[in-house]
Amino acid sequence: MPETPSPVDLLRLDGRVALVTGATRGIGWAIARTLAAAGARIVVNGLGDRQVVSERAADLRREYGVETLPMAADIGDAAAVMGMYRAVAGHFGRLDILVNNAGILADALIGMIPDAMVEGALRVNTAGAIYNLQAAARLMRRGGGGSIVTISSIVGLRGNAGQTVYAATKAALVGMTLSAAKELGPYGIRVNAVAPGVIDTDMTAHLDDATRGALVGGIPLGRAGRAEEVGQVVLFLVSDLAAYVSGQVVGVDGAMVL
Ligand code: NAI
Repeated sequence: MPETPSPVDLLRLDGRVALVTGATRGIGWAIARTLAAAGARIVVNGLGDRQVVSERAADLRREYGVETLPMAADIGDAAAVMGMYRAVAGHFGRLDILVNNAGILADALIGMIPDAMVEGALRVNTAGAIYNLQAAARLMRRGGGGSIVTISSIVGLRGNAGQTVYAATKAALVGMTLSAAKELGPYGIRVNAVAPGVIDTDMTAHLDDATRGALVGGIPLGRAGRAEEVGQVVLFLVSDLAAYVSGQVVGVDGAMVL
């Protein structure tokens, strides 16, 4: 009988190529570090300052000894995303893992929602994830399979007053994930989503003490989450430990969703 690999070995990603969008800080940075610690080669995507993206890639190389590729590109720009995947294909010749992490907040009461906010949030949070899914799926099909994880939000499942636009962009990612899991399953590509609750990052740093206190008060585990705790769940989902898990939305929220 063939030997069954140990569960710990199944978590390893040695040699696999993983692209993480929005990997320069917060949850994306924690995901990139976690996957690199498991041995994956990392394509570090980020917006804006090319130097920051390059520094992050160099940090990962130094700390974990894995090959990295910095890719500054706006994921809301379809042409830029296509260019990024051409570069990945040229450099690594394959892609095994995509983590659709990049996202922006869009907070406004319904009567105050500016058109530009709707367009901007849909462009980055929703269209950006779809462009990446599409380009990644092409490369993964060529390579015989892969794993895609998209960061949605508890707000996309439960809603939140004042976050109608953000919630719409994040709920759309659930529909995307379920459909893609059905369509790409036959090609050996697993597609899942993670729905974090309140995670301490720059995105949530602007919350005043009263709002933060009220939010944390509604979390059964009694605290906000850490970016690393999202990274750990993403590692499980992209690894062979989750070989039979696809089409799921996994909460990382301290039971806040209940
Ligand atoms: P953050 O604001 O700290 O980091 C976002 C990252 O995305 C940055 O690296 C930024 O440069 C990048 N980014 C933004 N727009 C981009 C674009 N157009 N192209 C490429 N990169 C772009 O946010 P955080 O907190 O780390 O959030 C990461 C993801 O997790 C987001 O999708 C967010 O919606 C989601 N999330 C965060 C929660 C939280 O409590 N922090 C809770 C639930 C979901």
